[in-house]
Parts: sequence; C-alpha cells; structure tokens
Amino acid sequence: MSSYSIKSLEQYFKVYRKSIRKPKKFWAKIAENNFTWYRKWDKVLEFDMEKAEFIWFKNAKLNITKNCIDRHLANRGDENAIIFEPNDPDEPARYYTYSQLYAEVSKMANVLREQGVQKGDRVCIYLPMVPELAFSVLACARIGAIHSVVFAGFSSNALATRINDCTCKLIITADGGYRGTKTIDLKRIVDEALVKSPSIERVLVVKRTGQEIDMKEGRDRWLQPLLDEAPATSMAEVMDAEDPLFILYTSGSTGKPKGMLHTTAGYMVYTAYTFKNVFNYMPGDIYWCTADIGWITGHSYTIYGPLLNGATTVIFEGIPSYPTHSRFWEVIQKHRVNQFYTAPTAIRSLAKEKIEYVRDYRLDSLKVIGSVGEPINEEAWHWYNDHVGNKRCPLVDTWWQTETGGIVISAIPFVTPTKPTYASLPLPGIKPVLMDELRNEIEGNQQIGNLCIEYPWPGIARTIWGDHQRFIDTYFKTFPGKYFSGDGALRDEVGYYRITGRVDDVIIVSGHNLGTAPIEDVINEHQTVAESAVVGYPHDIKGNALYGFVVLKETGLWRDRQNLAKEINQLISDQIGAIAKLDKIQFVTGLPKTRSGKIMRRILRKIAEGEQSDFGDITTLVNPEIVEEISRERV
Ligand code: WTA
Repeated sequence: MSSYSIKSLEQYFKVYRKSIRKPKKFWAKIAENNFTWYRKWDKVLEFDMEKAEFIWFKNAKLNITKNCIDRHLANRGDENAIIFEPNDPDEPARYYTYSQLYAEVSKMANVLREQGVQKGDRVCIYLPMVPELAFSVLACARIGAIHSVVFAGFSSNALATRINDCTCKLIITADGGYRGTKTIDLKRIVDEALVKSPSIERVLVVKRTGQEIDMKEGRDRWLQPLLDEAPATSMAEVMDAEDPLFILYTSGSTGKPKGMLHTTAGYMVYTAYTFKNVFNYMPGDIYWCTADIGWITGHSYTIYGPLLNGATTVIFEGIPSYPTHSRFWEVIQKHRVNQFYTAPTAIRSLAKEKIEYVRDYRLDSLKVIGSVGEPINEEAWHWYNDHVGNKRCPLVDTWWQTETGGIVISAIPFVTPTKPTYASLPLPGIKPVLMDELRNEIEGNQQIGNLCIEYPWPGIARTIWGDHQRFIDTYFKTFPGKYFSGDGALRDEVGYYRITGRVDDVIIVSGHNLGTAPIEDVINEHQTVAESAVVGYPHDIKGNALYGFVVLKETGLWRDRQNLAKEINQLISDQIGAIAKLDKIQFVTGLPKTRSGKIMRRILRKIAEGEQSDFGDITTLVNPEIVEEISRERV
C-alpha cells in the first residue's frame, strides 16, 4: 500500500525513481492492492509507441462501477457518494449515499438494457449538471455501453457531428437546463440535431425545468416513469481491461473534433491513484470539482476518481456568479468542502469582484485547492492562494489533457513545495521530456521545449474513434517514440515544469480548447466571406480571446460591418457554440501569406496582441504591404 499514498518529499522521490525504473512493477502493485477484479492480468503492459498501441493489464476482467460503487457498500454504504447542489440556492441540496447511488445506477442500467442498449453500443449523454448525468455515465459503464458525454453548451450542429461520428444509438437529455438566470432548451437542441442524426433510435428525457417540449411518438420517452418501474439492483457486465469505457470529443487544430477513446482498467487505476495523491484525499473528506462533466476533468475528477476512492463528490449545477459572486464560497461553507478544484478563468472572474464576496465566508474546511485547464497567471495564483486557500492550503496546479486521462504533472499537497505558475513535478510513472524543433531531446534544466512524455502510463487514450491514423499522426509522429502533448513547457533550475501554452493552432478560451481551423471553416461559410484567419490574444479573464481577420468578397464590401460581424458570430454560435464566438472581428483586404500560400499566423497573432512594429522577418511574404494596413486598422 505504501506507494499508493505519498506522504513526504523523500518518499515521492523514492517512489518516482522506482516508477520510472520499473513502471510495470509499479503499476501492477497499485492495481493489485487497491481494486476489485473478476480476473487478474496475464501481462501488465504491452505497447508500441510507433503504432500507438497500448495494452494495460492484458486479459484482466473487471467492471469499473463495481470499484466505484459496490465495493464501498459494506463499509460506507450510508455515507454520501454525491451531493447535488442546484443552480438555485433556495432549492434544497440532494444527498445520495453509496447505497442510494447503487440503486439509482442500477435502475438506470436496467432501463438502458430494456431500451435495447448492449455492450459496446454508444450512448450519447447531453445533460445539464444534474445527478442523472452521473447516474447515466455510471449506468453505461455498468452494462458495458460506451458513453459519449457532450457538453450541454454545444449547439445542435456540434451535437449532431458528435453523435454521427460514433453512431450513438440512444441519447439521454433533459427538457431544459438551468444556468444562472437562464434556461437552456436542451430538448429543442436535441430535436434539431436528430434531424441530421439517423443512428439515434431512442431519446430518454430527464424532467428538470418542467418546460413545454415536443415528444416524438415512438422515439422519445420520459425517463422517470421508466426508472420507477426498473429494479434497483443490477448485474455488472464483465469487461475486458481494454474494452472501451468512453469517448470524449476534444478539438484539434484542424478538421472535425477528435473522439478520444479511453478504456477500462488503465483509466480506472490511473484516475484513482492520481485523485488520491493530488488531492490528499482522506476518508470522510468532501471534495468538489467545479468542472462540467462534459469535459475530461468532470469525467476523471468529478465522477470516476472520487468514487473509486469512496469519496463524497459535489455536483454543482450553477455558475460562479449566480445569484452573487459568492456562490462558490457559499457552497464550500455550506457543505464543508475539503478539496476544491476549479479553473483559472473562474478565479480571474471572481478576483475582479469586491473582496467581500469571498472574505465573508468561512472557508476553514478547505485543505487543498486546485487549478486546471490552462496556465494560471501569477496574479490569479496569489489571489486564489491568499483569499481562498488562506495561505494555508497547498494550491495544486495540475497539468493534463483529455488525452492523458488523468493528471500527469502536479504538486502533491503537503509533499511538493508549490511555486506560483508552475505545475511542478511529474507524478509517479510519468517521464516528461522536452524536445527541440530538430527532434532532439533537450537535456538539463533551465530549458524550454515541446512537452512530450516518454513512456506509456495507464491513463493514456488508446485511439481516436474511427481514425487510428490520425491518433498516430497527431500524437506520436512529430517526435517518434514519444507522446507529444501539443504544449510547450519550461523546466526551471530545479526541474519544475511550467506550461507555457499550446504550440499548435489550438487556443484555450476560458479553459475550453478551440481549434482555429473549424472556426474559420464556419466563418467562411458566410456568403460574403472570402477567407478568414482566427488567432488568440491575451484576455484578462478568459486567458485567451479570439480575434478574427476576415476578408470579404465583392458582395460583402458594401454591407454594414457591424451587422456582418454579428451575423458571423451568430453563425459560429449556431455551428459550434457560444464559447467559440469571436471577441474581435477585423475586416481586412487581404491576409499576410507566404509564397506557398500559407497564412502567416505569427504576424496576425502579434497584431492581435497589440504589437505595432516588431513583426520579425516579413520578406518571405507575397504581400508584405498588407501587414501595415492590418496593423493600422486593428480593432
Ligand atoms: C491546457 C483539460 C497549463 C494545456 C484537463 C492542455 C493547462 C490543454 C493546464 C488540455 C495547466 C490544462 N497549466 N495549461 N495546469 N491544464 N492545460 O483536453 O494546453 O480540455 O494541452 O484537458 O489545457 O485541455 P483538455
């Protein structure tokens, strides 16, 4: 058990060295001692970095929900597994013990089976942050169906693309969802999507807002009456270690979203182990991660990681600013939260409000606070550390990705000394390397490079659904033999890592990954647009915001620019979602291009950032004069 929980820096270094020297032995021991298996593995790991093939715990049999739920029933059946905190603070919170969770998940699993869902089928989940979202995810895992959760802020088009890519058979949604003062018409969005998604045979609808919705005969069913009829016990499907657990879409720099596939045993072992250590979880702790379950953080650290450890996990339906900017702190005080995990963008938005919003709350239950999703700037780090952590709670800046399944670089609280803006040291089993443009490894400290990981870890994604070649090309080709993250990093004088941001055309806006190419494709669909280029620029709260340079066709030239900009943003909102809207749109007569026709984004980025003269070498452009014009007319 000793390496499952790290308690001192000395022990960390010892465990780390061991894990890197003998990774298979290291992970086998953790898997052996901390989980329930129907059958143990024949081999810990088989892999090929070039072909991007990974088999962890070969031939082992298990069900992850047995580990998340059933095995806790004997000892902590009456303890809370989930606390649901609604959007409206006047609506009572709901508490689900592990025994109740077992019953809820079983009922849902039985409903899914009855509706014809079988092992290996894909189920789309498009729900607000309500308990049924967690029950649905776990019910899929219980019966071996592959869940594909789509964030309920995505538009009907984005939803349809994701349903079609992995041909989901059934979708679970709600009539509507609450978000602050707004309600989102989820069922209407689903109806729109389904016009384009023929694979869906059945729609199950959670009643949340009680609003009027259309129900299509033969296709749509209210969920509650089905649950009421369903037995509250269920058999867990026997899954192979490498059977798919879920698909989760993430934006790439080009093309359609990538359906990252995670499998069962490796993901389970990795999320459980990292949750325990990164949050210093102790039995009885109340843990709250504010991320929506529509993102990987919600999968790994709202649902799976906490439940695998028998923790109490808070599911919060609302937003940080409703009804006031105190909401987060109010919830921490109300539920006596011990670990709090959120995103820098939320911290920045709250830090700009009056200090009373946080000062008037009792946050003394907190032990550990965490950050995820984007680099946390120094100011936000200190505000979070001083006013929320009270300089008493370690602040863990956790670096990871949808692709890594779980946290890979992070301080371990009460073990690793923290340093503002640094994710710090790799977790056991993770060997980060920095690579230069010539594909050489950069040795030594005080270096900057492309951040790669050298050896597989159990949580690594196994493929992109339906496109293994793209998986190889995106992550394993640039630096052969290594996993390439797409991020740059700095390694300081003691070996701490600081993530410097994306090195590709993915832009992180409020913690959401957005590819520039898919947004440009949408802009170019507008009838008056000839071409466009989208870049990111620094933004106080969102981290980055989007700046679009748009070249109009002849027909667009005499149109009202303001209306045009509105139409373009509306189009983006409809096709992708409001999160991808442009903060600034500049109409230009041309884009800076190289002789081979490539847009020089480096220059556009500089202009968007406000640079006025130092554009570097522009002699390779076919149209160097355009740079001056664009810069002069910057919005
Ligand atoms: C960024 C979210 C700096 C990074 C878990 C990564 C971070 C992308 C951090 C993955 C951090 C995430 N510091 N940058 N602590 N955490 N990122 O797939 O650019 O939604 O590649 O996974 O977010 O975003 P994703």
